[in-house]
Amino acid sequence: MKQIECHDVCYAYDGEPVLRHVEFAIAKGEAVALTGPNGAGKSTLLRLLNGLIFPELGSYFFEGQEITKTRMAEHKFSKYFHQRMGYVWQNPDVQLFCSSVAEELAFGPVQMGLSAAEIDGRVQDALELFGLIRLQNRAPYTLSGGEKKKAALASIFTMNPQVWTLDEPLASLDDKTQDWLVEFLQALKEAGKTLLFSTHEERLLKQLADRQLLLSSQHEISFN
Ligand SMILES: Nc1ncnc2c1ncn2[C@@H]1O[C@H](COP(=O)(O)OP(=O)(O)OP(=O)(O)O)[C@@H](O)[C@H]1O
Ligand SMILES: [Mg+2]
Repeated sequence: MKQIECHDVCYAYDGEPVLRHVEFAIAKGEAVALTGPNGAGKSTLLRLLNGLIFPELGSYFFEGQEITKTRMAEHKFSKYFHQRMGYVWQNPDVQLFCSSVAEELAFGPVQMGLSAAEIDGRVQDALELFGLIRLQNRAPYTLSGGEKKKAALASIFTMNPQVWTLDEPLASLDDKTQDWLVEFLQALKEAGKTLLFSTHEERLLKQLADRQLLLSSQHEISFN
């Protein structure tokens, strides 16, 4: 059993097929780049892997458990699942919803039922690591694009998920922040985390990916 398995997964929007017979598996600790042209279905596949939409045909297994609408409607299961699997959206605006950066970082750990001391420790560590200390009381919508991205990454970091899924993580970041983020992702990989990231960036393929999962415009999936 692999950590993530998709078998013959199909998904369509309003009858328009986007994912067609997608078949792949990812082992724990692998770093996999999800590639393919605009509109190939990368973001759709990441939403499906995060239990936000479900296969219309075929099946998706996470750590041996089939992820279905019924399963995700079980509060206890969905909580467990979201703790194991972090999702950094392409657009941080849809991810950040609290009234301050510090609250945003505490949200996941609070949901996990951690002690106040543990929550505070995680938030402080993340504020430091992501360079967000001076922004901690700011409302997320007042941050710059790059600052929002860091806050979104930090809000996943405080949950310490085993699997990180990231949609175009380098998009709209300056060179220095990109360098920093590549190093951060390399450190996650070295810590044994599983990474799946959609990207158009050559450097992520070279510096981070163990292999590539290509969603082609013909909707076939292949590895190299
Ligand atoms: N909510 C939606 N309703 C209808 N069609 C959608 C919806 N979301 C995505 N699509 C369509 O599904 C296809 C795949 O979209 P998706 O966002 O998954 O592609 P992508 O590979 O992430 O592209 P990009 O590289 O531009 O981010 C596109 O043709 C898109 O227009
Ligand atoms: Mg996309």
